[in-house]
Amino acid sequence: MPALSTDPDLLARLRSDLTTSAFTVDRLGSADAWGASAGAALFRGERVAARRALRRSVERDPAVGPSATLALLFILGYAQGRAEVEAALPTLGVDGAVRLGLVEAQGDEVRATVDLRPYAFVDAAGEASWWIASDLGELALGGALREDHVLGVGGASATLAGLLLPRTVDSALDLGTGCGIQAMHVARHARRVVATDISPRALDFAGFNAALNLVDGIELRLGSLFEPVAGETFDHVVSNPPFVITPRVPGVPEYEYRDGGMVGDDLVASVVAQVGAHLTPGGVAQLLGNWETGGAGTVGKRGAASVADWAARGGVPLDVWVVERELQDPAAYAETWIRDGGTRPGTDDFERLYEAWLGDFEARHVVEVGFGYVTLRRPVDGGDLPVVRTERLLGGLGTDDVGLGTHLLQTLDAVQALRSTDDADLLASRLTVAGDVTEERHYWPGNDDPTVITLRQGGGFARTVESGTALSALVGACDGELSVGAIVGALGQLLGADDEALAAELLPRVRELVTTGMLRA
Ligand SMILES: C[S@@+](CC[C@H](N)C(=O)[O-])C[C@H]1O[C@@H](n2cnc3c(N)ncnc32)[C@H](O)[C@@H]1O
Repeated sequence: MPALSTDPDLLARLRSDLTTSAFTVDRLGSADAWGASAGAALFRGERVAARRALRRSVERDPAVGPSATLALLFILGYAQGRAEVEAALPTLGVDGAVRLGLVEAQGDEVRATVDLRPYAFVDAAGEASWWIASDLGELALGGALREDHVLGVGGASATLAGLLLPRTVDSALDLGTGCGIQAMHVARHARRVVATDISPRALDFAGFNAALNLVDGIELRLGSLFEPVAGETFDHVVSNPPFVITPRVPGVPEYEYRDGGMVGDDLVASVVAQVGAHLTPGGVAQLLGNWETGGAGTVGKRGAASVADWAARGGVPLDVWVVERELQDPAAYAETWIRDGGTRPGTDDFERLYEAWLGDFEARHVVEVGFGYVTLRRPVDGGDLPVVRTERLLGGLGTDDVGLGTHLLQTLDAVQALRSTDDADLLASRLTVAGDVTEERHYWPGNDDPTVITLRQGGGFARTVESGTALSALVGACDGELSVGAIVGALGQLLGADDEALAAELLPRVRELVTTGMLRA
């Protein structure tokens, strides 16, 4: 692959052409281009529906032509005629695109050497969009990926980007930056960002993408894990690390973009154990990861609970918050990641790899693999006892305007505030029920008393909490006027219960509701 150039003049031309040609997420997803159905087929790894839809769109409206050409060339991987590409990139031209390292031209035919696509997002600073270059995917290549493949913005990348805490900090680290997507997101709220990767090609893409999208303040460093930042600390560390569990047997591809070369979940364990030493006091690390659960008799494979063990290994006290979002048995895990590498089911290769994955899990007695989000915070005061929180939240996410990053930040703030709130303080506090909390009651037919009362969170992780009559009444009375103690006293009278016993029952539940943002201080 030719090297990518970051010549400012050529990049300015490319930016201008991509804008003029309306190479945007809105245009591609709209009925003007390939629309929702072909978009879904693409997501499943099939490009024919999108190509047909683009052809029809151009027949209907020739103005769509330039964006269709760019999509066919850079996303679907079809060679395009020189005249069409010149029309889609009128100021850069084919020659300029060759000099940037984006295409190869032979006679009248132009082929993409990289994937380039629009990417749109909303974060605390508002709506924005970029164009992101990465290696061509299996769709365009028509086969398995190279082992040094540089990933574009995948589902996990977008998930982590959506989780990032929207807080202004001085310094941030993106470990395993790939095409640079997390570093670019973090640069929106960090004065300086260090982005590392073991792959020089990945750093080329990250540099190209930052320059193309005029994102400043990112320093790129080559090296493994924390080697390039030895002795340095950061306010915010983010990483979508190469966490995929891969059998260490000959013939199994070792994809750099997803596999850190270690056994089982050791790569994630190693990042979690080392990251504390690279956080400033109050600094937060946000990672994605996999963790293994072992069968009876195995030691140390405790699923999501292992994350706290790994953090403790580092010797730096850390608050640990794990949100487990998915669980897979070994077979489902093997299928997911063999397909991800571009090997199709039904082929000899697929079966050989499937054997290798199942053999590895069996040999190490792994019965389940969890996936989720890890948030680690170095307490501001070294004397604070670490708080460990492990949640299994496998359902859908809430719908609200603030986004998950804001929700995470509110939760961390609540944990911090509750550290110095004893029960007397909590009883004296005046809490308010969050606007997105609703209550469901279920009754046996003909019965006036509910058998189940559930509090439901509309935003955040859309948590549901089984509540009893007393907790539900307490939450309902939290309007910011009455103290928790006054509400507990009134409930004691109403229910004929002892105040102290009622407080002892309700206060831990109130703490939990404050932590999760269902009650606000
Ligand atoms: C799953 S990709 C994440 C890319 C990007 N940050 C994102 O969120 O889409 C993992 C990245 O880690 C890099 N990587 C693999 N092994 C590494 C190591 N030992 N140290 C640092 N980075 C590594 C890969 O090259 C790849 O770019």
